[in-house]
Amino acid sequence: MDYHIAVIKGDGIGPEIVDATIPVLDTVGKEYGHRFKYEYLLAGGAALDAGGDPLPKATVKKCKASNAVLLGAVGDPKWDSQPGGLRPEAAILGLREALGLFANLRPAMVYGELSFACPLKPEIIEGGLDLLIVRELTGGIYFGKRGTETIGEASGFGKLVDHLRGEKTLPPGRFAYDVEQYTEFEIKRIAHVAFDMAMKRGGHVTSVDKANVLDSSRLWRAVMEEVHVKYPEVKLDHMYVDNAAQQLIKNPKQFDVLATSNMFGDILSDEASQITGSIGMLPSASLGEGSFGLYEPIHGSAPKYAGSDIANPVATILSAAMLLRYSLNLGTEAAAVEKAVGDCLAAGYRTPDILTDGKIKVGTQECGRLVAGFVGK
Ligand code: IPM
Ligand code: MG
Repeated sequence: MDYHIAVIKGDGIGPEIVDATIPVLDTVGKEYGHRFKYEYLLAGGAALDAGGDPLPKATVKKCKASNAVLLGAVGDPKWDSQPGGLRPEAAILGLREALGLFANLRPAMVYGELSFACPLKPEIIEGGLDLLIVRELTGGIYFGKRGTETIGEASGFGKLVDHLRGEKTLPPGRFAYDVEQYTEFEIKRIAHVAFDMAMKRGGHVTSVDKANVLDSSRLWRAVMEEVHVKYPEVKLDHMYVDNAAQQLIKNPKQFDVLATSNMFGDILSDEASQITGSIGMLPSASLGEGSFGLYEPIHGSAPKYAGSDIANPVATILSAAMLLRYSLNLGTEAAAVEKAVGDCLAAGYRTPDILTDGKIKVGTQECGRLVAGFVGK
């Protein structure tokens, strides 16, 4: 069967890690009788350079017309001081919003082979670590009203700013705000994703919030409880985000699925990635209502490593495996890719980020070819 995959290479190491992943998908196609048709699209800094818009309309349109999107990484400090504040990150946030990708799945697991790279004491991750962060992706403070005003001047946002200011008399000077907000609808749909995932895994959801302080978190907690009624097989508990940050280090094995807001999920997923030893290993899936999704490594564009063929492509390869599983319903093929990554590591091949004595150093493209070779075995 033919599948249409929109491919956004992006900036920094993005093009290299994507180039290393395509041979893996092609081998899956050959071995299992599928045809993957790639449409290469611009977004991020590359699109800013090409046409002044980090997220061209044509990119959104073509993504929507595809079965799934594979993305490398976007961003480079070179665009940090763009006139008008246009940053490459606007592309990724814009894509999430335009494509309705409200559910972000960020698994963190420690490969036995790489447990040495975990910065925690060995006994803390003994027996392996396998948790899944389900991060709400199109709501919360990322998409709430924001602005910068000067106290005393007319406000651009009228009522909202009056309300924010009205709480107390503010001293003169600049005033900036970002509103954390959640609707019941948004919490409900991400709750369902978290519980559905837990049903397929360890049957345990930890909902992370700051309900001791925030109204939006109190609603989050209440709606989680309400949706939980439909999942009696799943255990639900709640944890404040500051405690969750501690517990991830102290006893990460207590977690199965962590369900949380956009902002808390952003922070906790970086923390969780470090437990696994290398951020270069972790994939992610961003899903909407149907099977369509966007798949990207959780790491950034690492501009200082760009063009040197040293970046680890495994996070992108594993993202492609998630693409096969969630958007194309090719679970067997996805498992074959995941196994090939394990085989490649077991055979001793390592990119520099996970290299140790006695192992075989390989570059980005070589790593991709090796994993592809193991898929074909
Ligand atoms: C991530 C990134 C993005 C986010 C940035 C690049 C906008 O940190 O995907 O975790 O904050 O969501
Ligand atoms: Mg992040």
